[in-house]
Amino acid sequence: MAISALGYICVRARDLPAWERFATGVLGLQAQRDADGALLLRADSRSWRFRIEQGDEDDVTTVGWECTSEADYLATLAKLGDRATINPALAASRGVRALAQFTDPAGMACELHWGPTDAPHVPFASPLGVSGFVTAEQGLGHVVIVAADPAGYEAFYKDLGFSVSDYIDMPFGPDLVLPVTFMHCNPRHHTLAFAPAPAVFTKKCIHLMLQTQVLDDVGLAIDRAEKLGTPIAMTLGRHSNDQMLSVYFETPSGIEFEYGWGARVIEPGWQVVRRDAISIWGHKMIGGPAVHG
Ligand SMILES: [Fe+2]
Repeated sequence: MAISALGYICVRARDLPAWERFATGVLGLQAQRDADGALLLRADSRSWRFRIEQGDEDDVTTVGWECTSEADYLATLAKLGDRATINPALAASRGVRALAQFTDPAGMACELHWGPTDAPHVPFASPLGVSGFVTAEQGLGHVVIVAADPAGYEAFYKDLGFSVSDYIDMPFGPDLVLPVTFMHCNPRHHTLAFAPAPAVFTKKCIHLMLQTQVLDDVGLAIDRAEKLGTPIAMTLGRHSNDQMLSVYFETPSGIEFEYGWGARVIEPGWQVVRRDAISIWGHKMIGGPAVHG
């Protein structure tokens, strides 16, 4: 009776055409514009997964948290209590059966919902021939958020159905170690991660992640990024916790976008551990330290 997946992400960005070029030309997502001129991006049979709208934030502005059923939605809504506001008009525009807005302890706007629009009659067709993304019961991917109080944030999301996957104390420059917490709500190793980023980091979202079904799609995306001049924030590498083989692109909003393959999933008997490194190999930061995971 809890949140079951990351359903969708909304971003506000200064340069929508640049986002469209990045999403369709590097990530291989399918793009269309909605009635308000926002960019709607598809990654699977869902009618949309990312909505990029015009704005100055250049940041993730909303995280859509999905429940598999009305019963789970209502139970989670009850836990949120006064924090949540039901919004039928927004539910209609998002294409979900019901939706409630709340702001989490890090100040991230969230939309708890159930009953999203599935459109298998309009098959997902990547403009680049990307084979597809690992979604379904694992949800859209993962999101990494700046949270000043990791212990409080962990407790908040535990109450909504998340469990800790592991912790990484990430070396961040010569004198700083950042504690990163990874949490899951389905078999995906982590759907949510968070860290108290240094003050110089002004965005709410550190990065987003999509997982391809085929390894070559990651390599092909690296080639496309180099051709289109999309900055690579972190080179190809394998993470120490989910063991994902991934690369990090810099989006037109400055948020990083992890594009990976081959992550392991949470299995019965999962043991929570802590680590001192985010990667087994690779993941060299281009342009100085940033927050990853
Ligand atoms: Fe990640």
